[in-house]
Amino acid sequence: MNNQNSNRRRDFIKTSALVTGGLILQPWNIPGAYASGTDEIKLAVIGCGGRGTGAVFQAFETGHNIKLVAMADAFRDRIDKSYEPILDKYGADKVDVPEERKFVGFDAYKEAIKLADVVILAAPPGFRPDHFEESVKQGKQIFMEKPVATDAAGIRRVLAAAEEAKKKKLNVVVGLQRHYQDNYRETIKRIHDGQIGDIVGGQVYWNDGGVWVNARQPGQTEMEYQMRNWYYFNWLCGDHITEQHVHNIDVANWVKKGHPVKAYGTGGRQVRRGKDHGEIFDHHSVTFTYDDGTVIFSECRHFPGAANRVDETFQGTNGSVYLSAGNHGILTDRSGKELYNHDRQNNRNPYQVEHDELWAAIVEGEYKFADAENAAHSTMTSIMGRYATYSGKVVTWDEAINSEVDLMPETLAWDAMPRVLPNEDGYYPHAIPGKTKVF
Ligand SMILES: NC(=O)c1ccc[n+]([C@@H]2O[C@H](COP(=O)([O-])OP(=O)(O)OC[C@H]3O[C@@H](n4cnc5c(N)ncnc54)[C@H](O)[C@@H]3O)[C@@H](O)[C@H]2O)c1
Repeated sequence: MNNQNSNRRRDFIKTSALVTGGLILQPWNIPGAYASGTDEIKLAVIGCGGRGTGAVFQAFETGHNIKLVAMADAFRDRIDKSYEPILDKYGADKVDVPEERKFVGFDAYKEAIKLADVVILAAPPGFRPDHFEESVKQGKQIFMEKPVATDAAGIRRVLAAAEEAKKKKLNVVVGLQRHYQDNYRETIKRIHDGQIGDIVGGQVYWNDGGVWVNARQPGQTEMEYQMRNWYYFNWLCGDHITEQHVHNIDVANWVKKGHPVKAYGTGGRQVRRGKDHGEIFDHHSVTFTYDDGTVIFSECRHFPGAANRVDETFQGTNGSVYLSAGNHGILTDRSGKELYNHDRQNNRNPYQVEHDELWAAIVEGEYKFADAENAAHSTMTSIMGRYATYSGKVVTWDEAINSEVDLMPETLAWDAMPRVLPNEDGYYPHAIPGKTKVF
C-alpha cells in the first residue's frame, strides 16, 4: 500500500469511528475514496448459507479490491461449507478468515460486523432487524437479503434503522433483485411513463412445488431443530407468502408506487402436513386493495405436481403488461397489439447487478442506494397478507403495521424455548382461518 492509500485507509477508519459516535462524517461522501483500486475493502458475511455464500461470490466477481475478513453463522458447519468453495475460487489473498474471525452462535454477527467495511446479511429473515440495526449502528455499507423481517415489530425496527442509514449516508441494497433486473426496470419505467394508462388491476403469483425440509435429528434441542428447519417456523421465515412471494408482491407495490391499504384472503395446509412442516401454510390467496381502489390479486402455493407459475400481470386503462423473472416484459394495448417486448438476450444476471452497482458506489465514495424502506414496506405487505389468510378477516395496513405481536423468542439460546412448540405427538399448532387471532 502506498502512502497516499494508507493515509486514506487511516482516514477511513477514523471517520468510521466518528460515524458510530453519531457524527455524519464518513468516507462515502468523499469521491474516489477507493477509486485507486489499490485499497482493500473489508467484507464480512452474516449467515453463510446458500445466499450468503452466493453473495460473497458476486461481491468478488465485481472485480474490486475486496477481502473477506470475517464470517458469522449460528452453526459452525455452515461456515465450513461456505468457506471452502470461496477459498478454493478466490484464494488466501482474498479470503483471509482465520479461526478467530469465524464467529459462531446467536451473537456472532456483532463481532463480524465490527471487522468489516461492508456486510452481507443473509441469515433467515427473523434475524434481519437485529443484524441490520447493528450494521447501521456501526456505520457499515450493507447488502441484505429479503425479506427484512417476519412480523410488524421487526418491520418497525427496520424502518427506524433505514432512517438512520439515510442520515449516515450508508448504501443499502436489498436482494429484491427484480429491481436490478433489466426487463423489470425497462418495462416498469414504461408503465410509469403512462404507456398503458393508469394501472387498475393486477395478479401476482409464486406457485411451485415448495422447498427443502430439514428433518429433526436425535439430540437436537427444540431451538436447534427450529433453526435448522427454519423455513417452517414463522419467527424465522414468515411463511412462504413472506419468504418467497414477497418478490412478486414487491413488484405490485413498485408498479403501484405504494403499498396497499387492506388485505383479505384465504389459505391453509392442503398437502404439507407432516411433523417437519412446522406451522406454515402451503397456500395463500389474497386480494390487496390500494388507496385508489386498485385491487391486486396475489397467490402463492407449494403443491408438488401442480402447475407452476411465477410472474406478474397488470391491467391499465389503455393496455396490459406481463412480467416475469424469466426476463419477460411485454406491454400490449387493449387490442392486444404489442407496444414493447423486452429483448431477453440483453438481460444481465440481477444477482450480479446488485453487487456491481453497490460496490461501484462504495468504491467511488458515492451514496446511491437506500433500498431498506421499500423492502420493509413490501415485506410488511406480505405480512399483512399472512395476517389476512391466518385470521380470515379483512386486515388494514394501519392495524397490521401497528401490531404488537412479536414472534421472536424471549431468549435466544440453544436451550431456550421458541414460542411455538409441538404437541405430544410432535405436530405444531397452525392458524385456522376464522378462529385464529393474529393480533
Ligand atoms: N433474493 C433471492 O432470490 C433469495 C434466494 C434465496 C434466499 N434468499 C434469502 O436469503 C436468506 C437466506 O436464505 P438461504 O437460502 O441462504 O438459507 P440458508 O439456510 O441456506 O442460509 C441461512 C444461513 O443463516 C444461518 N443463520 C441462522 N441464524 C443465524 C443467526 N442468528 N446469525 C447468523 N447466521 C444465522 C444458518 O445457519 C444458515 O447457514 C433468506 O432471507 C432468504 O429469503 C433470497
